[in-house]
Amino acid sequence: MTTLNPDEEALAQARQAVHAASRIAVLTGAGVSAESGVPTFRDAQSGLWASFKPEDLATEDAFRSHPERVWNWYAERRSRLQHVQPNAGHVALADFQQRHPGRLTLITQNVDGLHQRAGSTDVLALHGSIADDRWLDPCALARRPQDACSVTVAQPGQPPQCAECGNLLRPDVVWFGEMLPAEALRAAEYAALRCQVMLVVGTSGAVYPAAGLAHTARQAGAQVWVLNPHPSELDEVAHGFLRGPAAEYLPLIFGEDD
Ligand code: OAD
Repeated sequence: MTTLNPDEEALAQARQAVHAASRIAVLTGAGVSAESGVPTFRDAQSGLWASFKPEDLATEDAFRSHPERVWNWYAERRSRLQHVQPNAGHVALADFQQRHPGRLTLITQNVDGLHQRAGSTDVLALHGSIADDRWLDPCALARRPQDACSVTVAQPGQPPQCAECGNLLRPDVVWFGEMLPAEALRAAEYAALRCQVMLVVGTSGAVYPAAGLAHTARQAGAQVWVLNPHPSELDEVAHGFLRGPAAEYLPLIFGEDD
């Protein structure tokens, strides 16, 4: 008889829990894209917030006072994303969703679009999408509140502007102090309340309300697993840990039965 080491034991338990559940929720953060080459935010050396201050780049105030600086930082990140690919972790989740329609709700804090590019559908993107833009303000010339600006002019290195009222386009991401997209958050909360198993992957658990979904799931009776090579703020919520990289462990958890 072979004895499993603690890691193999945890993997086997997580895999069993996932495969036995009919309602699974997966909450991902930047770590799920780390092995695609996308930097995380809070990793000590390589995280974006080790080199940049969030208040200079990820707030509405920062954009209003220095629109070029913020626009160009996002433009640079957008451009880098064109050269990265979904990794085996994104693919394992997407393949599972395709094999088991309706069974897994994928909730992400990531704005990189890699889950969607791997083939995941109905991704609840709580922090928006870096590939998209939206207007900063309602159109100053519109007669009705729902009318948006329409004509944009763009100068290199500047955010595109409305040619008529001067309104600016901004990245369609959630900045600090902003509300999350209401529909995505509502659907994520519903999934957290109903799931039997929640897997929390590659997030420090430092940002709410996203991190609160793990607490919601636990309080509602779900089995909660954390997949992260390092300790996270959500470890206290977890029934079990998987201390490894997402691109390696997700295929082991969600792959086909042999
Ligand atoms: P963080 O940078 O805070 O956390 C990333 C987590 O990924 C850390 O806990 C790492 O240990 C873990 N990690 C690193 N490599 C990994 C790997 N290969 N496999 C699995 N995990 C790995 O990123 P988030 O928790 O996603 O918000 O950050 C949450 C939010 O804070 C982001 O969405 C962003 C940021 O400010 C907005 O932009 C609104």
